[in-house]
Amino acid sequence: MSIFRIFFLLIFFIIISCKSDEGFNDSYSDIYDLPITPFNYSNPQFPDTFTDYVFGFNNTPNDNPITNDGATLGRVLFYDKNMSVNNTIACASCHLQEFGFSDNKSKSIGFEGGSTFRNSMGFANVGFYSAERFFWDHSAATLEDQVLIPIQDQVEMGLTLNNLVNKISALDYYKPLFKNAFGNEQVTSDKISKALAQFVRSIYSFNTKYDIGIQTTKNIFIDFPNFTAEENLGKDVFNGKKTPEAIASCVTCHLPNATPLHYEIPIPEGANQVIFSGAEPDNIGLDADINVPDNGYGAFLNILSFYGHFKTPSLRNIELTAPYMHDGRFATLEEIVEHYSTGVLAHPYLSAHMKDNKGNPRHLNLSEEESAALVEFMKTLTDYELVNDVKHSNPFVD
Ligand code: HEC
Ligand code: HEC
Repeated sequence: MSIFRIFFLLIFFIIISCKSDEGFNDSYSDIYDLPITPFNYSNPQFPDTFTDYVFGFNNTPNDNPITNDGATLGRVLFYDKNMSVNNTIACASCHLQEFGFSDNKSKSIGFEGGSTFRNSMGFANVGFYSAERFFWDHSAATLEDQVLIPIQDQVEMGLTLNNLVNKISALDYYKPLFKNAFGNEQVTSDKISKALAQFVRSIYSFNTKYDIGIQTTKNIFIDFPNFTAEENLGKDVFNGKKTPEAIASCVTCHLPNATPLHYEIPIPEGANQVIFSGAEPDNIGLDADINVPDNGYGAFLNILSFYGHFKTPSLRNIELTAPYMHDGRFATLEEIVEHYSTGVLAHPYLSAHMKDNKGNPRHLNLSEEESAALVEFMKTLTDYELVNDVKHSNPFVD
């Protein structure tokens, strides 16, 4: 072999090996932009405030741990409009990364322009939700069940599971994704459910101003050195220190495991001070009675005493997920604070946590300064890293 031939062969091999280095799968580089080595979804570097106690609430089923390839498939499915009957709506149409995986409408718009029954929910750290159940009315028993429901919903995406499997099977660009995630190319609704659930669970939030603060004090009741005076005041209102007549006002429901009986009693050792989603649906006195279109958890269970109870949602990224509540009735965080301060109504099934010692709706009667501070505190829960993270963004080229 002449020296020239060896030289050209060498160049040839270099070109070949460079080419296969370009992306996840060159045949589909005009469809999606995925890295050859998948992003790290399965093993993020949690801060130590995500203690064993938080992990103890992990609702990940044994047969569906997050894998990097599984979550990658889930990411593509999550952003794919082929998941709806007329190719107009993806999960991400109603769960936008920039809005903390919620949308900015009081009711979301489905594949034929129809409105959803309830307000889209933002999410982060769902694997650690102690409530375990999903939807405003807790009607989905597991996340794996939940993710298949919008696909079959007559307003949202309008497919049957059979249609779904046929559609996804006909799209060649899924073949390598299913193979990597599950060992073969065969598409099933079970695999779609698992991959979507892996992707949704991989949406972890632990990079907020609040997280930096809690890492320094390990105690929500102590001033955070990285907070402004206003944010620390807001934190005191949130945890009940500024409203001793309503001890532990917001933490009681939104951070239930960190609730002390009195703020001077230390919080339980290793308590969850980071997840910010409640364990139980509750009734916060938004309406005066049960004559409303949506009675939530009570209507789902068909138990009157739970009428008007709704999921206590995560407050992470709450600044980004407006409008608020199960029906999107409040446009701003200020309106929410006003509700808890002066607006709670005497619903017959009002939560015990929302009543004073005479059984009347409890109004926090916050000062203007305290109300503004509470809003500033909630804004410390915004995770800019998460909402800008490529690994949770739209992988499609256009
Ligand atoms: C047309 C808008 C729309 C689409 C499309 C949509 N969702 Fe939703 N999503 C909603 C609404 C509205 C809710 C609240 C529904 C309820 O509680 O009744 C919700 C709730 C959820 C929740 C529950 C969160 C919690 O804390 O309980 C998850 C998770 C979720 N959606 C994931 C998905 C996934 C995955 C897809 C795609 C397969 C998807 N959604 C498609 C609007 C949508
Ligand atoms: C009794 C338990 C309870 C208490 C106490 C409580 N909340 Fe809530 N919170 C809920 C429930 C339940 C919802 C959802 C209600 C609905 O949509 O019907 C909610 C909704 C919210 C929302 C809107 C979430 C969203 O995604 O739309 C915010 C923000 C909020 N609460 C902040 C607070 C603050 C601040 C306090 C203290 C002043 C507080 N909560 C006290 C249970 C509680």
